[in-house]
Amino acid sequence: MLEIKNLTVELSSPENPFYILRRVSINLKKGCILGLAGESGSGKSVLAKTVMGLNSPPVKTLSGEIILNGKPLETESDFKAARGKKISMIFQNPQASLNPVMTIGAQLTETIRLGRKISGAKAAEKAAELLSSVEIDRPAERLKAYPHQLSGGMNQRVMIALALASDPEILIADEPTTALDVTIQAQIIKLIMKLNRERRLTTLFISHDLSLLMRICPEIAVLYCGELMEITSGSDLREDRLLHPYTKALKSCIPEIGVKTALTTIKGSIGRNDASADSRCIFAERCPRAEKICFESKPAFNGRYACHRPLIKTGEEKI
Ligand SMILES: Nc1ncnc2c1ncn2[C@@H]1O[C@H](COP(=O)(O)OP(=O)(O)OP(=O)(O)O)[C@@H](O)[C@H]1O
Ligand SMILES: [Mg+2]
Repeated sequence: MLEIKNLTVELSSPENPFYILRRVSINLKKGCILGLAGESGSGKSVLAKTVMGLNSPPVKTLSGEIILNGKPLETESDFKAARGKKISMIFQNPQASLNPVMTIGAQLTETIRLGRKISGAKAAEKAAELLSSVEIDRPAERLKAYPHQLSGGMNQRVMIALALASDPEILIADEPTTALDVTIQAQIIKLIMKLNRERRLTTLFISHDLSLLMRICPEIAVLYCGELMEITSGSDLREDRLLHPYTKALKSCIPEIGVKTALTTIKGSIGRNDASADSRCIFAERCPRAEKICFESKPAFNGRYACHRPLIKTGEEKI
């Protein structure tokens, strides 16, 4: 359905260029829900924007392919044809993404009519249907409201309705619940999962919250400093069957409810992914398992992990 192949994106600056993403490959199968995890600054949003063709200088795609239904997206018009039609995105902050001076109804009907010959009345009907499908009650009334008259959770539902307006095949949800309180978060997540199931909507769910991803996603890709460290399953993550020391470190940072222990952190800080990291593992400096080889050659991503010293040999005993 959607293949991201060897994607390398640079922050181009004459003095200090660095890689925001380096040779990242991810596959989204029809109807899947794939989690994308990583610390702040690891490149999650840039990956989403690259798929949507929304990057602008100084962010520049150097190489790689975005393949949608077997066809590479190459030109600006390829991306334009896919964006908001075949691939839709919901952003972190609904308040900032909705137009404050337009009613919900006007924003929805405008999006519905984009590039389609459909009467105002039909569009209004579809707008009300969309609000019902994102479980907003009294849709006719809500269509007349402005974003400031609705709660944050309801605005995020409107954002999801906007993303669905074009009947997309793929939904990218970039931290869709971080701006919401926990009870509303749970409702929005349930809604996204329901849409994924009922519409077979292929979903890329981006979050820095590994504990959330391991509960809702069968498959999770873990990014570190612009590089893919591991693709694991929700159950392997929950049961600690991890291959990459970074994924293990990230997981051990999740505090356990009711357990009084000091909060765990990963030692050191995220470095820069530039030419100096050409021939070493990007995580080596912070990795408790790093050996000489990790500082001398970059481990290739083998489809599951990129590590010279994985925690478990695939299909074998713990090392
Ligand atoms: N337009 C831009 N100009 C300069 N730097 C940028 C730009 N966009 C992204 N970056 C840099 O690219 C890196 C990745 O950013 P990105 O927003 O993708 O991170 P993220 O993983 O989504 O983080 P968060 O969890 O905080 O949302 C960061 O170092 C960021 O500073
Ligand atoms: Mg982000």
